[in-house]
Amino acid sequence: MEKVKYSKVYRVVHWAISISFLLLLFTIFLRLTWMNKYNVAATIQDYLSTTDQVLSQEQLIALAKKIRQPMWDWHIYIGYLLVGLFSIRFILPVFGNMKIQNPFSSGLSTKEKLQKWVYIIFYVCVTVSLITGLIIVLGPKELKESMEDIHTLGIYYLVAYIIIHLAGVLIAEFTDQKGIISRIVSGSKSKD
Ligand code: HEM
Repeated sequence: MEKVKYSKVYRVVHWAISISFLLLLFTIFLRLTWMNKYNVAATIQDYLSTTDQVLSQEQLIALAKKIRQPMWDWHIYIGYLLVGLFSIRFILPVFGNMKIQNPFSSGLSTKEKLQKWVYIIFYVCVTVSLITGLIIVLGPKELKESMEDIHTLGIYYLVAYIIIHLAGVLIAEFTDQKGIISRIVSGSKSKD
């Protein structure tokens, strides 16, 4: 299999997107676990039960959401950053850099076709997440709920893609693409 040399632009965009996705995943993880509105509301309720103050469940949830908001703002900032990075990523092929994987190219093995399909499916899912995220924040109120239903499904493909991508890279490194990891880090060509 041909050994690809990754350009500087390719590597910078690749790592900027990867780090942004990990940070985005972290905000989702916090929202689903420690900073879950029901957990935070229960903690406030726990404290209030040791005092003579009482809040309704709605007030507890409203307070919990307010406490969570500064953390969640980072999901939105990183979301905007990803909109910018993916715009660059999708424009780069016009300048001959970071070409979009094409599963219909001739002469591809079944494995290569499969790899390219994984990328295409991922790009489509990311585009849906970015557009629905933007509509939730900036779009009309009537669309908010339906967009949220679609947007929150993003966690499934994101986790699945990260696992498949990391496993694929490791398998490639130890089989027919030795040096692929150092090439995407330093860009240097492997010696063998
Ligand atoms: C590929 C990019 C993105 C992915 C994978 C993603 C993923 C997610 C997931 C999984 C949730 C649900 C968290 C939960 O279950 O509680 C969520 C919620 C949310 N995301 Fe994103 N997101 C992305 C981009 C964006 C962007 C670009 C924006 C806006 C600029 C955004 C704004 C929001 C908002 C406002 C919510 C809360 C929705 C609600 O209250 O139910 N996201 N996102």
